[in-house]
Amino acid sequence: MAIELAPSILSANFSRLGADAKAALDGGGTLLHVDVMDGHFVPNITIGPLVTASLRKAFPGVILDCHLMIENPDVYIPAFAEAGASWISVHQEACVHLHRTLQLIESHGCKPGVVLNPATPVMMLDEVLDMVHHVLVMSVNPGFGGQKFIPGALHKVKTLVEVREVLGLAFRIEIDGGVALDTVGEIVRAGAEILVAGNAVFGKGDIGDNARKLLEAARSATLIRT
Ligand code: DX5
Ligand code: ZN
Repeated sequence: MAIELAPSILSANFSRLGADAKAALDGGGTLLHVDVMDGHFVPNITIGPLVTASLRKAFPGVILDCHLMIENPDVYIPAFAEAGASWISVHQEACVHLHRTLQLIESHGCKPGVVLNPATPVMMLDEVLDMVHHVLVMSVNPGFGGQKFIPGALHKVKTLVEVREVLGLAFRIEIDGGVALDTVGEIVRAGAEILVAGNAVFGKGDIGDNARKLLEAARSATLIRT
């Protein structure tokens, strides 16, 4: 499957969000990753449906990949769908009725995804894998950009690749946290296809160049996959 880059706007300069997002897309990003935090599920507060709606207006054709790090996501899913979210993912750890929540996302016309924190094993998703469009493996503890990659995420990506094959499913495998030039090779060789990157894209230097270099490193690493 093709490798895609999902620039995480969490590390953009919010005073010029449109320009930063455009630069990341021009550099090869194919979706915008929108990190939604509520100060309860994670110890940080970020953005909500209003900013999502502005992004939708500015980028009508771009996939908005909304990663909800919030408690009670069912309450907010309709608002994100209304704002123009394309994909909505929820944390397994935040959903008592995960099956129902995934159905709710789908019923609002968005692609449902599920997210695993570093401490949560893949088997927790056994009963819902056939319902999801993507599985997002957290390779940092959620809440902040610019953290160090947790290598334990790699075996979860490998497990997902195997399970998908065995079950004949088609969900996509996304990874989030600490994706950078020095980690992206092993990440794509493990089988991750959608690479979320915040700090590595927006942190310093030229945003477009950063995105291009990261994608180039990812794609050349897949070429040497054995
Ligand atoms: C963390 C967020 C990530 C974050 C990744 O809770 O879910 O999307 O932006 O940031 P980097 O790429 O800087 O680790
Ligand atoms: Zn995220």
